[in-house]
Amino acid sequence: MSGFPAVRPRRLRVNPAVRRLVGETRLHPAELVLPVFVREGLSEPHPISSMPGVYQHTRESLRKAAAEAAGLGLGGIMLFGVPAGKDAVGSGATDPQGILNQAVADVRAEVGDDLVVMADLCLDEFTDHGHCGVLTPDGRVDNDATLVRYADMGVALAEAGVHMVGPSGMMDGQVAVVRQALDGKGFQDVSVLAYSAKYASAFYGPFREAVDSSLEGDRRTYQQDPANGEEGLREIEQDLAEGADIVMVKPAMSYLDVVARAVDRFGVPVAAYQISGEYAMIEAAAANGWIDRERAIHESLLSIRRAGASIILTYWATEVATSLRSH
Ligand code: PBG
Repeated sequence: MSGFPAVRPRRLRVNPAVRRLVGETRLHPAELVLPVFVREGLSEPHPISSMPGVYQHTRESLRKAAAEAAGLGLGGIMLFGVPAGKDAVGSGATDPQGILNQAVADVRAEVGDDLVVMADLCLDEFTDHGHCGVLTPDGRVDNDATLVRYADMGVALAEAGVHMVGPSGMMDGQVAVVRQALDGKGFQDVSVLAYSAKYASAFYGPFREAVDSSLEGDRRTYQQDPANGEEGLREIEQDLAEGADIVMVKPAMSYLDVVARAVDRFGVPVAAYQISGEYAMIEAAAANGWIDRERAIHESLLSIRRAGASIILTYWATEVATSLRSH
């Protein structure tokens, strides 16, 4: 019967059971990390309008979210603090009574070692100008003065009980100074998830609302140019040399090539952060009836996993883990 195909890939697509059997990639709650916002002095959780379904938490509602995440078997929780007051050097970041340090202690008390407790190690949530570091008198971000602040912040987070810190400010040498500071204070077991290949992305838009950021201008003198893939790999290599335990690519969906190359090249755990704008795009399109929400969420996460990221930060972590459990 010449002319008819002997090889028929469609045979392995005939029904859901066969498709499930041959699926190369699947999602698991243990590889999902939930990013959360906690705001100082809040009495009720406060919705973030550009991220429907995501809230600025109170300390109390954060504890509940963390307990739920642990119960679902998530891999971790990444904490972001929104202080009541901000200043030029981001004092709240290093104050033991600052909102992020208190939240870390709260969450550790709630989940113990059942969930990896992570904290974003950066000053932008705490500075009145909204930049990730301290400024020179003429308004540029001062790399080395910022490193001193990061070292202190890393120690404050470790003293509060964090398992893993996530330096995300893209200052040169940030992983090395944080690692040294932690080791110097006896925190050898606190690990570093480095936001290594972090791009100056338009997709961070909704995050600004989430942390009440007052940033004017942009972060292009420290975050990477979206044009550059090889440079992202160099940043990762550098962070590994400085002592990073896990490296991250951020955003995720527009940078899956960088994820895949990092996985191939370095053989260390590679994380990817599906950021606020990626979340907002799918939610907004779904709210308009333009795409199927659940399918789009699943497909977006599967694509990140397929690219090779073994850890995914996503605002849908709790919802997706819940649905994975019921399937
Ligand atoms: C820096 C930080 C940002 C995000 C995570 N850590 C903002 C930025 O670098 O501009 C963005 C997360 C998101 O958009 O979901 N503290």
